[in-house]
Order: sequence, then structure tokens, then C-alpha cells
Amino acid sequence: MSVDTAIVAPPAEHAGLKIPAHIAVIMDGNGRWAKARGKVRTEGHVEGVKALRRLVDLGIRYGVKHLTVFSFSSENWRRPREEVSFILGLLFRFVASDLASLMRDNVRVRIIGTRDGLDEELRRVISDVERRTATNSGLQLNVAFNYGGKAELTDAARSIAARVAAGTLLPDDVTEDTVAAALYTHGSPDPDIILRTSGEQRISNFLLWQGAYSELIFIEENWPDFDEATFLKVLDVYSARQRRFGGLGSDPR
Ligand code: IPE
Ligand code: IPE
Ligand code: MG
Repeated sequence: MSVDTAIVAPPAEHAGLKIPAHIAVIMDGNGRWAKARGKVRTEGHVEGVKALRRLVDLGIRYGVKHLTVFSFSSENWRRPREEVSFILGLLFRFVASDLASLMRDNVRVRIIGTRDGLDEELRRVISDVERRTATNSGLQLNVAFNYGGKAELTDAARSIAARVAAGTLLPDDVTEDTVAAALYTHGSPDPDIILRTSGEQRISNFLLWQGAYSELIFIEENWPDFDEATFLKVLDVYSARQRRFGGLGSDPR
């Protein structure tokens, strides 16, 4: 289904739910999902990719405009080498096998994170999927890969410092917009929701700047179990939250 023709409000039976413009997800619990079934951790990662496809489809059907998913952190290199290479391979496969359906669904893909340290082939695949989907006008899918929030802010500081040193930017002209524009996520609004699966309640270096006012939602399900029922539960929780952004909101008490 293409986003242009997709329903931009929730399916009728779910009217009343607030649809966030941007959902960010820490897709956690693949290893525990596998362990609970007597499988090896890598099988959990394979199922995790299927859950990601379900999320993208749900995002399109429910009219979510931006999804940012945490698929590999800059700290995940600390894992055993075999697991790391398996996850890198999965990114290849996701991009290769899903490119056709992402194109059909009008999804624009951006891989956010540091490219340093990634091998040439992987960088080529990343640039390729970004280039090919660049003019798609539907759902924006940001895949955080080799991503760390502190590294992202450090990169932003470095690029702003370079402009100041070159004399093209004055220190007094550095605003919050300057910083936001220097982040990997430039162009996407801040996430309305940061969802983390698997019962862990921490941010793990994800979207440190962008998450300043995100609604944090932690659920017990492991990522590979994510489905429409889970998605609706998250929308339900979000719809009941009162966002204040430092003000008093619509119902001051
Ligand atoms: C999330 O699942 C995927 C990645 C971090 C790559 P985990 O692999 O962290 O699964 P658990 O937390 O060990 O269950
Ligand atoms: C966060 O999960 C990173 C991803 C989901 C890709 P981790 O499993 O790596 O986080 P910690 O180590 O439990 O904080
Ligand atoms: Mg984990």
C-alpha cells in the first residue's frame, strides 16, 4: 500500500486514538525472546527484522509519518564478534530483500549513525538504499545503525565548531535550530513517543537531544513479539497521556 493512498487517520474502528507523527523504538529483547524458546540469540535478531517490517506496515496503515528504530548501537560492538557480524549481515539482507517493498510503499529510508568503522561494502549498500528511496514521499524510516546519542551530539558540535572556525557562523548565532539541523535526524520532528520493549527502562544513549519531551513508554513484550495488538496498546497509552511541554496543558490541576 502506498502512503499517498493510505489512510492518514487510524482505521475507523480505532477513531479516538491520537496518532503520533513520529514514533521512535528501542527494539530490545531479541536475545531473551530466543533464549525463552531454546533458540540461539541470532534467531531472535531474524525475528526482530520481521517485527520491524510489521512496524513499518502499521506505521503506514495508521498514518504515522516518521519512524526511528534503534537497530545497532555504537556500544553493541562490545558483543561477541559472531553476533556483531550476524547483525551487520542482517542490515544487508533487510536492505536488499526489502528494497522493492519499501519502494512500492513509498518509504524514504535514512540510516542514521556513524559511518566510520563500517566496511566499504556496507557503506555502499547504505548510500544505495538512501539514494534510491530519497525521492519517496511517504513514511520516513530512520534506521539508527552504529548510532549513539553522545556521538551524534559530538559530531554536531564538531561540525558547528568547524563553521565557526571557518568564519561562516558566529558563536552568537548558534541556536537550538542550528544544533537540531546538525543532527543525523535533521528534517524529522522530535519523536512523540520513545517506546522500549523487553521491560528495560532506560534510554541506552538513544536520541538524547530529540527525546527531550518524548513520552516514554516501556512495555514487557520482547521486540520479536511486536504486532498490531502491541501497537494499539502503545497508541492507547499515548492517547491517555497529557503532554505539557513545561506549560500547564489543557487540563491544569
Ligand atoms: C536488541 O535485542 C537488538 C540489539 C541490541 C542489536 P538484544 O540483542 O539486546 O536482546 P536482549 O536484550 O539480549 O534480550
Ligand atoms: C539498545 O539495546 C540498542 C538497541 C536496541 C539496538 P541494548 O540491549 O544494547 O541496551 P542495553 O545494553 O541493555 O542498555
Ligand atoms: Mg538488549
